[in-house]
Amino acid sequence: MAGSSMPRTGDHSILTAIGGTPLIRLGGIVPDGAAEVWVKLEGGNPTGSYKDRMALSVIRAALERGDIRQGDTLVEFTGGSTGMSLALVAGVLGLKFTAVFSDAFSHSKQQAMEAFGATVVVEHSDDGLITTALAERMRERAHDLAAQPGHHYVDQFGSPDVPPGYVPMGTEIATSLGGEFDVFCHGVGTGGALMGALDGMRAAGASPQVVALEPTQAPLLSEGRSGAHSVEGIAVFTDPPFLDRSRLDDVRAIDQDRAFDTCRRLACSEGVFAGASTGLNVAAAIELAEQLGSGHRVVTIACDTGLKYLGEQPYV
Ligand SMILES: Cc1ncc(COP(=O)(O)O)c(C=O)c1O
Repeated sequence: MAGSSMPRTGDHSILTAIGGTPLIRLGGIVPDGAAEVWVKLEGGNPTGSYKDRMALSVIRAALERGDIRQGDTLVEFTGGSTGMSLALVAGVLGLKFTAVFSDAFSHSKQQAMEAFGATVVVEHSDDGLITTALAERMRERAHDLAAQPGHHYVDQFGSPDVPPGYVPMGTEIATSLGGEFDVFCHGVGTGGALMGALDGMRAAGASPQVVALEPTQAPLLSEGRSGAHSVEGIAVFTDPPFLDRSRLDDVRAIDQDRAFDTCRRLACSEGVFAGASTGLNVAAAIELAEQLGSGHRVVTIACDTGLKYLGEQPYV
C-alpha cells in the first residue's frame, strides 16, 4: 500500500499534468470548402490555462540554477491567471508565492489564487478601472516586496525562461500533425506563447506561416495605436517583450465582438468553452481557413477555460 512513508520515485505530482493537452479538429463551425482548423486545448492544464507551462518553466529554471531555494517567496504582480499558475507550481515545489493584485480585477481570481496557497496583496484601483498608472503601482509594490531577504521577483514580462515554457506546446502540435500544417495563428500579449510554440514547431520539423493576432479595437501591432478593449490577456504592449516581429508573416486584427460571438458558438456547437482570446484566435483561424481552402490546415490555441470568466463578458 502506498503511504506517506513510501519514497517517491520520479515525479508523480500534479506538475506532470501540465502540458500534453489534446489537439482537436473543429467541426460544423468551419464552413464547407475551408481548410481544416485544429485547436490545442490548453484549458486542460491544472489551473485551466497555458500559463501553467510558463510558471513551471520559470520556477524550475530558477531552482535548477540555484537562484531560489525551498522556503523562499516568489513575488509577481498579476491580474490573476498567471498568479494562479505561479501559486500552484510554487506550492508543489516547496516555495511561497505573494501576488500583488488589485480590486480592478474580479474577486473570484483573488479567491482562486488564495485557494492555491498564495498570499494576495491588494493595490487599490481608482473606481475599479485598469489603468497604466495602476499597473505601474502594482509593479513598484511587487519590486518593493521582492527586495526583502528570501524574496524573488518572477518577472513574467521579462524573464528569458518564459518562452521556453511554451516550446513543448509547439512540439506537441507539430508531432500530432506529423509536421503537416500551413498556418499557425495566435493572439499576442507578451508574445511568449507565440514565440515559444513556434520554436517548438520548428524543432519538430514544421515550418508554418505565422500570423499574430490582435483586436481591431487595439491595433498595437498593425497600426502602433492602443485602444480600450475587452479581450483579456492580449493587446497590452506596444512592444511585446518576447515578440520577434521578423518571424511573423502577417498580423491580423479581429473585431472583439466577433471574438465573443465565436466563443459562444465554440461552446454551443463544438463543446469548447474558452475565454475571449480563444474566441479571437478561432475567429481568425476560420477566416484564414476560408482563404486557404480545403487541403490545408490552420492551427491555433484555446489558451484557457471559459470557466475562469463566468460572470464577466462575454458570458453575462
Ligand atoms: C487568456 C490569455 N490569452 C492570451 C494571452 C497571451 O499570451 P502571451 O502573453 O504569451 O502572449 C494571455 C496572457 O496573459 C492570456 O492570459
